[in-house]
Amino acid sequence: MLLSSTLCALLAVGKAWGQSSTVDAYVASQSPLAKAGLLANIGPSGSKSMGAKSGIVVASPSSVNPDYLYTWTRDSAVVFQVLVDQFTLGIDTSTRGEIDNYVASQVIIQQVSNPSGTITTGGLGEPKFNIDETAFTGAWGRPQRDGPALRSTALITWANFLISESNTSYVTNTLWPLIQNDLNYVAQNWNQSTFDLWEEVDSSSFFTTAIQHRSLRQGVQLANALGQTSVVSSWSTQAGNLLCFLQSYWNTAGYITANTGGGRSGKDANTVLASIHTFDAAAGCDALTFQPCSDVALSNLLTYVNAFRSIYSINSGLANNVAAATGRYPEDSYMGGNPWYLTTLAVSEQLYDSLIIWNQQKFLNVTSLSLPFFQLFDASVTVGTYTSTSTTFTTLTSGVKTFADGFVATVAEHTPSSGSLSEQYSKSDGSQLSAADLTWSYAATLTSFDARAGVIPASWGAKGLTSSCSISTGGGGGGSSSGTVSVTFNVDATTVFGENIYICGSVDALQNWDPDTALILSAANYPIWSTTVNLPANTQVQYKYIRKFGSSLTWESDPNDVINTPSGGSFIENDTWR
Ligand SMILES: *[C@@H]1O[C@H](CO)[C@@H](O)[C@H](O)[C@H]1NC(C)=O
Ligand SMILES: *[C@@H]1O[C@H](CO)[C@@H](O)[C@H](O)[C@H]1NC(C)=O
Ligand SMILES: *[C@@H]1O[C@H](CO)[C@@H](O)[C@H](O)[C@H]1NC(C)=O
Ligand SMILES: *[C@@H]1O[C@H](CO)[C@@H](O)[C@H](O)[C@H]1NC(C)=O
Repeated sequence: MLLSSTLCALLAVGKAWGQSSTVDAYVASQSPLAKAGLLANIGPSGSKSMGAKSGIVVASPSSVNPDYLYTWTRDSAVVFQVLVDQFTLGIDTSTRGEIDNYVASQVIIQQVSNPSGTITTGGLGEPKFNIDETAFTGAWGRPQRDGPALRSTALITWANFLISESNTSYVTNTLWPLIQNDLNYVAQNWNQSTFDLWEEVDSSSFFTTAIQHRSLRQGVQLANALGQTSVVSSWSTQAGNLLCFLQSYWNTAGYITANTGGGRSGKDANTVLASIHTFDAAAGCDALTFQPCSDVALSNLLTYVNAFRSIYSINSGLANNVAAATGRYPEDSYMGGNPWYLTTLAVSEQLYDSLIIWNQQKFLNVTSLSLPFFQLFDASVTVGTYTSTSTTFTTLTSGVKTFADGFVATVAEHTPSSGSLSEQYSKSDGSQLSAADLTWSYAATLTSFDARAGVIPASWGAKGLTSSCSISTGGGGGGSSSGTVSVTFNVDATTVFGENIYICGSVDALQNWDPDTALILSAANYPIWSTTVNLPANTQVQYKYIRKFGSSLTWESDPNDVINTPSGGSFIENDTWR
């Protein structure tokens, strides 16, 4: 096992060379194409915006199968967040006219009565509008309560810049009313159910909660700066409640459950997108706000990425420390259930954001929770703090950089020479699928590239927050154990007659990694193999399944599986043989 890890590491180093120059070249050629693709979808001057009104972003010019020729509040805000960030950071100051048009369009859109209500009765939660700024009245998954939060965040970023330019009157007269409408909506409605960002599950949703929290924190800062103090107490209180609620999405199996409803595994790009859309470099690797380099967010990233390794054939044969194509969530069946550009790019961006912080703070922490993630890059790494002068820091950060570049290289491999990016690419042959020229695909390209270049977006106030609801992840040590938990392991494994599945792992109850005494699983529900074991509570347990046939024995591929056991009761772990 050691030998093969060492070989993998050597191969990864060899690959890094080729890959980082491939990615450098892709970034250089794709950056202007992505920017042009994004601007082409903004009306009325955009070449593909098909008659959209001024400042209106079309989700995609595709009008059939699927018809995305609408303007979504979420997608538009994500797009303008990129333009505002690039403008205010001096990366591209050519888009002021577009930003002004967006503001003017949202003054109109906010007032449009629609099936979710009027501006005062819930209409701000309406997910999409016609591109002539009239209401879309067909059936839809509504409301979607992330829209007002994302829009206010983009507008506040713009407002802060204008204040720094002494243009406070425009902020007070034009931006503040829009922001106040959105944030009053967030403060009043965050605790109501919502459709998730994929417009499918009606429950509570991590992405929505995370960006709602961010928006209110940022709103409080702006309100104070403008002397609009009447909203401060309500927004601050609700921000605290949101931060508390945010913790409840943590799953003791080591990842963030994306939605409280939906009946799925909960492994979802929703959570990775939330981490990058709430990145605040001032907060370092803060776990309370799920910062990109926090142990909770890294453990989540690993779980999310691994969920796609066995279900997309374009990922077959890739080792676990090599990037893979990722999609929205493993159970996805929309348009056949394929990888998306924006989700694959989101993984790279979370990793680039992490590298920014580790290089800035000049150390990184490996906790028991993030250990399996870091072991991808150094099989022998242990829990601890590594300063930038250590070889471990160098090994880990260069491994993460190669891994991150691999996600961009995956996108590059499936980008045509025109640079056009649709919504999805095929899980079997990588060809483009679903809506052509998805505006968000271009936005995701630009933000990933900026993060790779070390660009740090403005802070929003994540630093130094506290909450009595903070989760216990067993980070740092190995967790204290008191009592046991009954854990049922289910693994989906196809076998031949005479072959059996076993489990062993890092604790006594799992035979301390001894394959000879590993526990046999029952095939009563074949192809699900199953066993129930009492494990220590509040403990991180690593394990693997083994296949035995006669005298031959096959381990699952690396890395080790991991669960963090809950404090009591019982727990069902569902795995697929690797
Ligand atoms: C303030 O910003 C707005 C929006 O870009 C612009 O229209 C206006 O001319 C600016 N005012 C001043 C005084 O710079
Ligand atoms: C409302 O907040 C409470 C307390 O945090 C939480 O238990 C509940 O799930 C929330 N409901 C929704 C729909 O957000
Ligand atoms: C890093 O880990 C050490 C213990 O190893 C802990 O004392 C310290 O607070 C951690 N720092 C951060 C920023 O998480
Ligand atoms: C495993 O699946 C069962 C339903 O078959 C579910 O109750 C359980 O919550 C799942 N476990 C995890 C960790 O998602």
